[in-house]
Amino acid sequence: MNTLLTSATKPDSTEDLIVRLLKNLGSRKEVEQYLKLFSSVEEKRFAVIKVSGGVVENELEALASSIAFLDKVGLTPVVIHGAGPQLQAAENAAGLTTTKTPEGGRVVTEESIALARKVYQRENLRIVGALEALGTRARPIPNGAFVAERSDDGRLGFVGRVTGVDLDAIEASIQAEQIPVLSSLAETRSGQVLNVNADAAAHKLALALQPFKVVFLSPDDGIRDEHGQIISAVNLDEDFDSLMAQPWLSASTKNKLVEIRGILQALPRSSSVAVASPENLARELFTHKGAGTLIRLGERIRCHNDLSQIDLPRLRALLEDSFGRKLHADYFDKKPFYRIYLADSYRAVAILTLEQGFPYLDKFAVTTEAQGDGVGGSLWQRLAKENDRLFWRARIDNEVNPWYFARSTGSYKSEKWLVFWYGLERFDDIQRCVDMALAMPASLKAHSVGAQS
Ligand code: ARG
Repeated sequence: MNTLLTSATKPDSTEDLIVRLLKNLGSRKEVEQYLKLFSSVEEKRFAVIKVSGGVVENELEALASSIAFLDKVGLTPVVIHGAGPQLQAAENAAGLTTTKTPEGGRVVTEESIALARKVYQRENLRIVGALEALGTRARPIPNGAFVAERSDDGRLGFVGRVTGVDLDAIEASIQAEQIPVLSSLAETRSGQVLNVNADAAAHKLALALQPFKVVFLSPDDGIRDEHGQIISAVNLDEDFDSLMAQPWLSASTKNKLVEIRGILQALPRSSSVAVASPENLARELFTHKGAGTLIRLGERIRCHNDLSQIDLPRLRALLEDSFGRKLHADYFDKKPFYRIYLADSYRAVAILTLEQGFPYLDKFAVTTEAQGDGVGGSLWQRLAKENDRLFWRARIDNEVNPWYFARSTGSYKSEKWLVFWYGLERFDDIQRCVDMALAMPASLKAHSVGAQS
């Protein structure tokens, strides 16, 4: 029922909502393409959306709009929310003091689990109410979906570890075309309510549903780098170790990455995780560029020092497809290669030669599809990490040039070429490299689509 772009009969408020959300999006074609993709899996497998308590507290309206939007376009996500800040406030108001075990674990007493039940129910109903107010049917599932055992032999009181997920209520809700809204409360086999970590519950829910997307809605729009910029895409196979080693990444984000990797390892490789804010969720899901952080297991990029382990016809096809031109027949025989960085899927490659001792980027090719996945970015990062200096050239009308400008420390423009470099300090080194780059014979046959030669 994808009525997104055709419905003329919906009430004004719904139209307004869709128009408002679509305004910030990319092209209609892009939206339709993703809509088709997300509708291609079984309904209950579209997405699990984890909403932090802070978002429910501060961004309820945006949250409801973004979920109502999905509903209007015919998608039914499964929503699970936390309520950490609300519970803390309620405990403070009730004068409950927090007790900890000697190891620092927070003990949940009988009073606080009773309170948690009330608070979760209240927050759950706020979400459901906000959705219903926008004409989106939603069903509260405040408990019963998560089965848990007491953690730590009960020393933490009423705290649980999720051991299973009962999908009955969720499936019934989806069947009835109502968005299931779950709280992160669990029950033991005998019905004792236990508090569980909301991320851990979302994790278990994802394993049970095997969704195409797992979305973490948080007030920050995504995962941010050392400069506070959103990291658009993370390719875990390639980026995980280096991210975990970064001093600027907070311990809680690192934990989150470990958790996310665990989730993705248990899902089909086509599944992905998005970290976004309610405001930018539609843009994240329905445009190529996205707006938050897209995390996938991704793929390994291998560095080869020669051609012996490479499937040459496949590599040739990648180069010719992405440049839209034929490679000279003898391209692979002409000169020794220095390093070839190749993605396992043959969707991205960087080919380096050594020119008078200077690493030269002879080819950099990424398929359009892999660009959206962030493979090109990962490939560049790897390249830059392992080569402390580099020079390359591109035709002056190459659309990738802005991207190259951002990754170089200097450039030189001739009539036909832009020569870029980084890591070169001395003037004569730069001059030598520029001269060599300009004198390089073409390796792609004529008929240009403006790609590197
Ligand atoms: N809309 C696509 C998806 O959800 C691509 C999103 C890209 N997002 C990003 N942050 N790079 O799969």
